[in-house]
Amino acid sequence: MTEPNQAIPIRVRPEEPGDHDRVRAIETAAFGQEAEARLVDRLRGRVSPEVSLVALTAEEAGDEIVGHIYFSPVRVGASRKLAMALGPVAVDPVCQKQSIGSELCRRGLEECRALGHPVVFVLGHPEYYPRFGFEPASAHGLYYKNEHFAPAFFVAVLEAGALAGYSGEVEYDPAFDET
Ligand SMILES: CC(C)(COP(=O)(O)OP(=O)(O)OC[C@H]1O[C@@H](n2cnc3c(N)ncnc32)[C@H](O)[C@@H]1OP(=O)(O)O)[C@@H](O)C(=O)NCCC(=O)NCCS
Repeated sequence: MTEPNQAIPIRVRPEEPGDHDRVRAIETAAFGQEAEARLVDRLRGRVSPEVSLVALTAEEAGDEIVGHIYFSPVRVGASRKLAMALGPVAVDPVCQKQSIGSELCRRGLEECRALGHPVVFVLGHPEYYPRFGFEPASAHGLYYKNEHFAPAFFVAVLEAGALAGYSGEVEYDPAFDET
């Protein structure tokens, strides 16, 4: 049986240059590989707009970063309308299941909306993302690469009517296809 999530006090702030090494370490530990850390390194500071947030816990020895979330721009359909894509999101494995990932998702989505980007996509776990308002993108005629990805491809519409004019393929930055 799964233990219920116990939220621990955290604060969330924008990532700073001094955070990069710790963020790399968390991405690598959470995913068990370096691909996601390298992806963030390729995108960070090169794409615009971007949203990069870290979650910190208050430790005796000082604040410690325990989570990171990143959003980058995508282009949609023939008209190449701008939207955002969530990913990656990672929480230090020793701190998971304490609502840190949820807080990062919620705060990140708020930030995207505040920046004027109320359409956000994610390619990810079907059990995790619907709780933040994500719904199947295929229901709106939106897809990533091909139908194979449809069960894991979601869109969050953060303002009523924001999806008007969006249809077709959602193109991520070419950095997502590099290894
Ligand atoms: C996914 C992740 C960011 C969630 O962070 P977290 O702080 O543990 O999440 P929360 O405590 O807010 O929520 C926990 C919930 O996430 C679910 N969850 C965690 N990992 C999951 C996964 N791989 N697939 C589906 N659900 C997952 C848990 O089952 C739990 O569900 P419940 O609330 O119904 O019990 C974290 O587990 C992580 O870093 N995982 C490895 C990297 C990863 O897979 N990133 C997402 C890529 S799409």
